[in-house]
Amino acid sequence: MPSAPLALRRTLRSLEQLLGGFGTALLALAVLVWSVTLGWFTSRATLGAVHGLADRERVRLGRWGEEVLPPSARPDRLREALRDPATRAELHWLARHALAGTVVGFLAVLAPLSAVRDLTFPLWWWSLPDGWASPSLGLWVVHDWSGVPAVVLLGLAWAALTVGGAPVAARRQLRVARTLLGEVPGDLTLRVAELTRTRAAALDAHAAELRRIERSLHDGAQNRVVAATVMIGAARRSLAGNPQQTEHLLGQAQDAAELALAELRAVVRSILPPVLADRGLEGALHGLAAASPVPCSVEVDVPGRCAAAVEATVYFVVAEALTNVARHSGARRVAVVVRRRADDTVEAVVTDDGTGGAHEGDGSGLAGIRQRVEAMDGQWTLVSPAGGPTELRVEVPCGS
Ligand SMILES: Nc1ncnc2c1ncn2[C@@H]1O[C@H](COP(=O)(O)OP(=O)(O)O)[C@@H](O)[C@H]1O
Ligand SMILES: [Mg+2]
Repeated sequence: MPSAPLALRRTLRSLEQLLGGFGTALLALAVLVWSVTLGWFTSRATLGAVHGLADRERVRLGRWGEEVLPPSARPDRLREALRDPATRAELHWLARHALAGTVVGFLAVLAPLSAVRDLTFPLWWWSLPDGWASPSLGLWVVHDWSGVPAVVLLGLAWAALTVGGAPVAARRQLRVARTLLGEVPGDLTLRVAELTRTRAAALDAHAAELRRIERSLHDGAQNRVVAATVMIGAARRSLAGNPQQTEHLLGQAQDAAELALAELRAVVRSILPPVLADRGLEGALHGLAAASPVPCSVEVDVPGRCAAAVEATVYFVVAEALTNVARHSGARRVAVVVRRRADDTVEAVVTDDGTGGAHEGDGSGLAGIRQRVEAMDGQWTLVSPAGGPTELRVEVPCGS
């Protein structure tokens, strides 16, 4: 049994839900009566009213739990609408809610008011003229005190109905509405919308990555190679007259070529770190941890191998997170936990005990991580209240 204040709060909450439902039920009743009478002649407007009311109910449902999204496309012609599963579910809800919602909503008003009225009956019944005092609904007339206990009993029954019935009715009403107005099974519109969005993010991330590679090749390796060719040309010209200068120029050209090579290696590493291929995800993450200036513990439980792009994403996420910890957090410890879950998703969590306050908009690193993760159809969450701790969590479908 829940304690009394808890039961009272639960009852009040349920009554509030049912009263909200009463409002949409009365509207539903009006739309229902309209639809089955004149609605056939104005089918477009009627369908608009049904959709509008269903959307209003979705907003109400969202207030009492998870958001309920409307279907992204809906037909406004009667014939197509009657074939559309989402619209049919809306019509089903309309009929049910118009009837059940109205009755339950009416009871949600009547029961608590009657409970209060009958329970307080002994306090005021005697002040009424004889023949006027009766319990709620005017069921019978009370003439003297011997009739009062029965009224109080009736009040208790109303109270029991309110406390016991309201939460059950409210839960049921929300559940039915959620089932009928939520995502229709087989309606893949939401999933498609999500995939379209992440696909666009993937293309953006891809373009940004290409630009970054192009820039680092152009500004780095290409410049060094140009310098090396210029110096080799000069060396060739000085070969006959000034061997000493040739020697010097060739030395410089060699330095430039070595620098170009180093930069090429860095670019290659930033595309798909070779360490992943050599040592696997676990080894690569241990390598990152070893290089972290803040003491870092690593726990990896990823049996088998994931798609190379997924491993690279996890690697870059952890690399950026550890760089951020070192640069911004002032943390004393950082922990990296990476595991492959039963739903074949790799989950990586980086937690530090620093000052917190990390925010995506303040730099480019976290935004880059998010883009990478979303491009892999993954999720990311950053929890970093001022004062810390900071937790970065990403989940990426394994894809293998
Ligand atoms: N682990 C962390 N602890 C505290 N602050 C952080 C942490 N990570 C990031 N931040 C803050 O969030 C901002 C955004 O991070 P990021 O996008 O990586 O940009 P930056 O290029 O500055 O590293 C940083 O400038 C920093 O102020
Ligand atoms: Mg950063």
